[in-house]
Amino acid sequence: MLPPGPREPAALQTVEWILRPTALLRRAQARYGEPFTIRTAWSDAPMVLVSDPAEIKRVYAASPDMLQGGESAAFLEPFTGPSSILVLHGEEHLRRRRQVLPPFHGDALRRWSATMAEIAHAELDTWEPGRPLRARERMQRLTLEVIQRVVFGSRDEELRDALRRALDMTNSTPKLVGMSLTGPTKAFMRAVAQIDELLLARIAEARRRQGFAVRNAFGGLDSPVDPQGRASSAVTCILDLLAAAEPSDRVLRDQLVTLLAAGHETTATALAWALERLARHPEALARCRDDDAYVDATAKEVLRVRPVLSITSRRVLQPWTVGGYTLPPGVYVSPCLYLAHRRPELWPDPTGFRPERFLDGAPEPYSWVPFGGGTRRCLGAAFASLELREVLRAVASRFALRPDRAAGERMRRRSVTLAPARGAVVIPNPLA
Ligand code: HEM
Repeated sequence: MLPPGPREPAALQTVEWILRPTALLRRAQARYGEPFTIRTAWSDAPMVLVSDPAEIKRVYAASPDMLQGGESAAFLEPFTGPSSILVLHGEEHLRRRRQVLPPFHGDALRRWSATMAEIAHAELDTWEPGRPLRARERMQRLTLEVIQRVVFGSRDEELRDALRRALDMTNSTPKLVGMSLTGPTKAFMRAVAQIDELLLARIAEARRRQGFAVRNAFGGLDSPVDPQGRASSAVTCILDLLAAAEPSDRVLRDQLVTLLAAGHETTATALAWALERLARHPEALARCRDDDAYVDATAKEVLRVRPVLSITSRRVLQPWTVGGYTLPPGVYVSPCLYLAHRRPELWPDPTGFRPERFLDGAPEPYSWVPFGGGTRRCLGAAFASLELREVLRAVASRFALRPDRAAGERMRRRSVTLAPARGAVVIPNPLA
């Protein structure tokens, strides 16, 4: 028997999961305590939600043959391809993850901060004083530009437009639900084919740059080697780094699409929430002007109070006990990031926006989990955090913000993310 949960039919729970996701989560927790079970058409089996840090830790620490990640991203496979780390499991997942991780970690990260700041300032140059803007759209443009620049080393408008077409389809909730039920549409597959063509051309250029002769996984032919060995020693972008480690064009293509898809919408949503919150907390934005620790605390508080993803799911492969229940194989156990970040015993004034709370030391382990955890923890966590800090610093240095309405925006589902319902409308005023 599964833990209790809302009694409405799955169809009704699905509607609520899409239209009022946070209300559903709060109501179920208040009524049934934890763990509780949710049934929606969104996933192919019931999801058992937990938000106690001790339970979250157990889930993230479980071995992949007990609890399997990557299942809930399976619907993305027509886009990301079968070699994407989003959809792989077990050893193969870890191997590919290790390949992709280095440029997103440690010292390697620092090389991207100037690019991020430059792109942020170019975006701010377009802001008109006193004129309301929808921050989410602006931040989508900005984060797509950032991830493209660091991955490919240059602007690429053709690829950007093709990506936008495919991403817009995966970001529309109704289209996404439709595609997860009936498979990808023809229009979607056309957009993917166009991206593939462009990506394979970029990969061929990278191979030429590096002077690699490698098997082309699409045609089984050897890629030509640049006779001049142009720029073979200059590693300027993530594509060059990954191409050096991965001989198959097809696999490389899947990793590139994964980074572009996973790295752009999530960060744009987090930035949109940051501006939505800061417009209503001008004192916090003012403090970001000259206090780097506070910028970092602000980015963390935004991700706590408005987590971009509400849950992270793992498929139960071997019976899993939680709260006195034994979950059978097939169902999901899902740490709920949204509820974990609102536990009053861990977060005094949980709905308040108080970046200061992160200045007093690290939170309790597994109580702040906007990037998930364990071997499936967000690969771009450090990269996204850097981008949040760079953009916030740039905004704070040039603008004051105010909201168009006093009331904060509701959290609304946009595909897998929880986004500001009205697109984060803010009014910028340049600093004197
Ligand atoms: C604020 C921005 C972001 C948020 C909130 C976020 C959040 C998450 C979460 C919650 C997961 C699932 C973790 C789990 O199941 O335990 C995830 C996975 C992932 N994220 Fe992010 N992400 C962000 C930005 C990025 C960026 C910038 C990139 C790449 C450049 C990225 C790449 C990935 C990848 C590849 C995975 C799959 C990891 C795996 O399965 O091994 N994300 N992200």
